[in-house]
Amino acid sequence: VRAPAPWLARPRCGTASGRATLAHAPPMTISLQPVKGTRDFYPAELRLRSWLFEIWRESARQHGFEEYDACVLESEELYVRKAGDEITEQLYSFDDKGGRRIALRPEMTPTLARLILQRKNALSFPLKWFTIPQCFRYERMTRGRKREHYQWNSDVVGQPGLVGELEVLSVLLMSLQKMGLTPQHVQVHLNDRRILNAVLEQLGVPPERHLPVMVVMDKRDKLAPEELERQLREQGLAPEQVRRLNEYLRMETLAQVRAALGDAQPLHDLERLLGLLDAAGYAGFAQFDITVVRGLSYYTGTVFEVRDAGATLRAICGGGRYDSLLSTFGGESIPAVGFGFGDVVIMELLADLKLLPQLTPAIDVAVIPFSEAQVPQALELSQAVRRAGLRADADFSFRKLKRALQRADEIGARTAVLLMPEELERGEVVVRDMAKREERRVPLQDYLAHPG
Ligand code: HAM
Repeated sequence: VRAPAPWLARPRCGTASGRATLAHAPPMTISLQPVKGTRDFYPAELRLRSWLFEIWRESARQHGFEEYDACVLESEELYVRKAGDEITEQLYSFDDKGGRRIALRPEMTPTLARLILQRKNALSFPLKWFTIPQCFRYERMTRGRKREHYQWNSDVVGQPGLVGELEVLSVLLMSLQKMGLTPQHVQVHLNDRRILNAVLEQLGVPPERHLPVMVVMDKRDKLAPEELERQLREQGLAPEQVRRLNEYLRMETLAQVRAALGDAQPLHDLERLLGLLDAAGYAGFAQFDITVVRGLSYYTGTVFEVRDAGATLRAICGGGRYDSLLSTFGGESIPAVGFGFGDVVIMELLADLKLLPQLTPAIDVAVIPFSEAQVPQALELSQAVRRAGLRADADFSFRKLKRALQRADEIGARTAVLLMPEELERGEVVVRDMAKREERRVPLQDYLAHPG
């Protein structure tokens, strides 16, 4: 929608003093749309977002995770990576007025690493931290991918072994259950980068090519088979190697992989993890999936993605173990594992499955004065309700009673208190139960003493 905005005038060229003149400029039109790929959150949409965030926060807190945050602006150098991660090509970056290269964060993990390295000696490990940052990526937009999204991250830092995986997966799965999702709706697809390394090693791919090859493999669902093959060949794979790699990627069970690759620790670890998840009450939610690679090069062990059962949507969530990210920033190695869970795909899935709640604004008391004359009592009454810890909405529009009650309904008021001139003269107010549509007269002083 393009609408004229007469109050905004296009600045003329700068004046001699360097200031722009706004006077007498022709009106310009501005787009009322949000920037491409970004979203506006009107109250109805924000209610749903807050509902989702509350589930995320509660699931993390119930596991003893603590919330942290940082600025959306970061130094661009934080995202420099050698393996050709797609994310580094999608950076929103610019020079600030001091000539520094700045980026809007595309993900939170490098920021988390920075925070930890900065206070490494003061922090007591293992850390269990979560956050819900807004992230920005200049993506080619498809269903479920925008240029801005909120991404819940939960990470365990300083905890080697499978316990870290178990903790973050339990947080994640509990949140899915709180949303009403079952194994029939969503699945955690689990793999281990070390298995993929062993496969590539068996195929004779030199170790320094493993990461770039995995970054290409991660695009498997996005690219046509011929294009995928072309990109793998570009990474030095011969047609026979591509064929054998595809053979591996078609394997469905750990037993098949074991038969082809030989026995290896990561296969045992995955088996154990799947068993422990069952024991934690998440039976049927997780499965081995050798095709899960993940596009970020810092993962070193377990990798996982949550996908909808119909596989019609993009990944709902992704994560894994990244034991060497902190050392690449110049620190010592600190084991770490975690996930990022965006708000876009999950909301689409929950809407498709009709699992989104019907949320109203939830006001306790709508205070409705009849005219200007009752404003002082309306204020006194509203404040009494608020001091009692409840929510009061004072309607100062002095509209017809029927419309005022309609609005009270719309904002989810439980009761309405009507301040009518005659009743007030007798020292009374009318308290209306909005659901039952019943009214009773109550002395104003009694109501002030026991509001709500
Ligand atoms: P990621 O797979 O790049 O991982 O993103 C994680 C999740 O963020 C995705 O599964 C998706 O839900 C959401 N997401 C990512 N990009 C977009 C987009 N353009 N539009 C909408 N949603 C999006 C990471 O970012 C890792 N840093 C996660 C992590 C935390 N690993 C360990 N700790």
